[in-house]
Amino acid sequence: MSAPVTPAQNPPEGSHHVAEAAERRWTFIVGGIIAFLVVLMVFTGLHWASMPPSRVEVIDPRTVHISGEFVESNLGTVLDSNGKVTTRLVAQQYSFEPQCLVVPANMPVTFRGTSTDAIHGFIVGRTNANTMLVPGFVATFTTEFKTPGEQLMPCHEYCGTGHEAMWAKVQVLPRDEFLAKAADGRRLNCVSR
Ligand code: CUA
Repeated sequence: MSAPVTPAQNPPEGSHHVAEAAERRWTFIVGGIIAFLVVLMVFTGLHWASMPPSRVEVIDPRTVHISGEFVESNLGTVLDSNGKVTTRLVAQQYSFEPQCLVVPANMPVTFRGTSTDAIHGFIVGRTNANTMLVPGFVATFTTEFKTPGEQLMPCHEYCGTGHEAMWAKVQVLPRDEFLAKAADGRRLNCVSR
């Protein structure tokens, strides 16, 4: 037996309909949010499982030398018509191509590199120019060299028996000297001078 309802506790006529409608509305809203999140989770899970992380470009390591951005004639440093400086290089067991890079001081330089075999990497002297080169991916970063001079650029990922002999040089030229040399759009390196 339930206790008799006193008039004070008795809700006004029709208010349970209002409560029911509100509850149903909120059930739909919360259900919609949950469904949206589940769809989002499934989509991003499948999407990222089949894609490399953001801003990572893929490349076929078997055709790097044959066609595309990393053919030999396109390696080295180029001054684009829009004033941007890009240095392209390829790593393979056990050398870098080019073996001597030319870059300007005191302006942004974008490195773009890849590997054709094992995982390599490089660091330029004591600067923050430092990346891994993974076959199948294009590594890219932008940095600025503060002082002109020559820097060593060793491979810093163990890549096989010749790893410790794998290194290149980087010539940091004064900005004006670089701009004069690069003005004609040539791919610059310091392998052959
Ligand atoms: Cu290449 Cu270590």
